[in-house]
Amino acid sequence: MNDTITRETNLPSEAHGAAPRKVFVKTYGCQMNVYDSQRMADALAAEGYQPTAEIEDADLVLLNTCHIREKAAEKVYSELGRIRQLKAERAASGRETLVGVAGCVAQAEGDEILRRAPVVDLVIGPQTYHRLPQVVQKARAGEKVVETEYAIEDKFEHLPALERKAVRSRGVTAFLTVQEGCDKFCTFCVVPYTRGSEVSRPVSQLVAEAERLAEAGVREVTLLGQNVNAWHGEGPDGTEWGLGQLLFRLAEIPGLARLRYTTSHPRDMDDALIAAHRDLPSLMPYLHLPVQSGSDRILKAMNRKHTGADYLRLVDRIRAARPDIAMSGDFIVGFPGETDEDFEDTMRIIRDVTYAQAFSFKYSPRPGTPGADLPLQVAEDVKNERLQRLQALVAEQQTAFAASLVGSEIDLLIEKPGRNPGQRVGRSPWLQPVIVDEMAGEIGDIVRVRITKAGPNSLFSEPVTGDGR
Ligand code: 5AD
Ligand code: SF4
Repeated sequence: MNDTITRETNLPSEAHGAAPRKVFVKTYGCQMNVYDSQRMADALAAEGYQPTAEIEDADLVLLNTCHIREKAAEKVYSELGRIRQLKAERAASGRETLVGVAGCVAQAEGDEILRRAPVVDLVIGPQTYHRLPQVVQKARAGEKVVETEYAIEDKFEHLPALERKAVRSRGVTAFLTVQEGCDKFCTFCVVPYTRGSEVSRPVSQLVAEAERLAEAGVREVTLLGQNVNAWHGEGPDGTEWGLGQLLFRLAEIPGLARLRYTTSHPRDMDDALIAAHRDLPSLMPYLHLPVQSGSDRILKAMNRKHTGADYLRLVDRIRAARPDIAMSGDFIVGFPGETDEDFEDTMRIIRDVTYAQAFSFKYSPRPGTPGADLPLQVAEDVKNERLQRLQALVAEQQTAFAASLVGSEIDLLIEKPGRNPGQRVGRSPWLQPVIVDEMAGEIGDIVRVRITKAGPNSLFSEPVTGDGR
């Protein structure tokens, strides 16, 4: 009741130029959520909400959530506990706070969230972000809103309006969503349920958006999709394009010096995509290609639709096309039924491939996925032990890769000021942060540097002079 009164008294003052409303967005999980949070902030800016980095100042708190593992999903509820207190404190000083849950927990749990956390005013799934302004309006009028139903045609409806905003200055690197959703149904994964089936954005839209980004000074674009290399569309000549053809087209855009894409499935690495790695210097020599396990038995149970040998052959072909490519992967330890032998197969594949980067996780049973109902769930202490061993091996490989670069010359895209005065930070072609003196160049420049030292989290470098670059 009190809430309603506060709202009503707010309305007239707003019309007379009171302080604008503020939105605080907290992002969990993957790059797609990072991108979506930006889009939501853009959509809300049009409604008069300014972004704030201080949750205490926010009239609207939005949690953009991740459901991929139990730990990620549970974090949301502990955060909502803290927000409940904050909301009460703000209410005591006459300020209203709306609380929204977006992202994959919203999609997976829907109105269950309102039951578990009554502090929440609105729940909105990733396929319905184009309705966010109306949802916020309804919530402001005192309604509890759950917006997770969508028609497949709706999925990218929100994008044209948001595209106009895509040229907001975001520094020299940007993400561009080309595809959403997944039809692979790996038995451990909630994504096909939370993000729905695959939808690809059309070529013309993507080219236009990439051109706008380039005009705004973006030098590096990372194409995003849950299953990015399943992207397909009709080329201008009427032929069917895959991600490889799209990359060839984007590489023609003046100013775009670097292209990347993530995340890929081994089954969708087709010949054109491998050719893009061979022929496009702007396609960075770094590939995130999760294999999840090295055991054929487990890969089958995971419904990955490939064997360990298939994956190794594929990596060989990619390396033949682009010898300096650095591989990155995802691994799950302790999938139901995983024996010591299966785990050793995973360690073997890691040794065979040699990774520059890897993300590894203990299997987390997700409600509604086939894996959750499998017998022979692996004990927690076994998962812990395997994860530790796997991470130690990957850390060794990562350190060795960084050390192997010391003394070599690389191209560095300068991205931002460094933590210490006089320094700048950029990225190597292999995504490592590289520190360089600010005299090396301006933000957005690609400069030639020599790696002088490899630290635990970044590389150090000096500009290479005397060759006119
Ligand atoms: N348990 C553990 N890890 C998972 N991943 C996806 N689902 C699960 C799960 N249920 C991991 C996979 C995927 C990455 C994004 O998260 O390795 O590639
Ligand atoms: Fe999940 Fe598998 Fe789809 Fe990746 S390919 S999003 S792991 S179902």
